[in-house]
Amino acid sequence: MTDAAPTDALRAAALSVMTRAYAPYSNFRVGAALASAGGRMFTGCNVENASYGATICAERAAVMSAVAQGERNFTSLVIVTEGSTPAAPCGICRQVLSEFAPSLEITSCTTAGAESHWSLDQLLPAPFTSNSLPRS
Ligand code: THU
Repeated sequence: MTDAAPTDALRAAALSVMTRAYAPYSNFRVGAALASAGGRMFTGCNVENASYGATICAERAAVMSAVAQGERNFTSLVIVTEGSTPAAPCGICRQVLSEFAPSLEITSCTTAGAESHWSLDQLLPAPFTSNSLPRS
């Protein structure tokens, strides 16, 4: 097991926060637990909105919480859903995660016990980065 491998604590936290998801439109609850290099943990769940487009995914909710608490150095992420197959993070979440951890180790679990694992650079091999912006 590497440092980036998900711990039982990360899995448990992602499962726990999934139960707090606000998903009355899709009924698809998602929990995310993000680990920092220093061993801190941050969680998020999806929060939907009647406008649909204002919905926030679980992964981005976890990143926002972490950054607001002063953490930007992430090593691994665990996602939990109730789907039949493990869900990979959506494209917007991949881009947001890549800002802080382009090689993040991602594990996605279902409540039925299926599990998939990816590195973020596999899922988003060509992110838009600060290097893409003109220098001021
Ligand atoms: N969702 C996430 O929370 N994370 C993803 O990476 C993909 C989708 C949520 C958004 C919405 O509330 C529901 O799943 C269905 O798309």
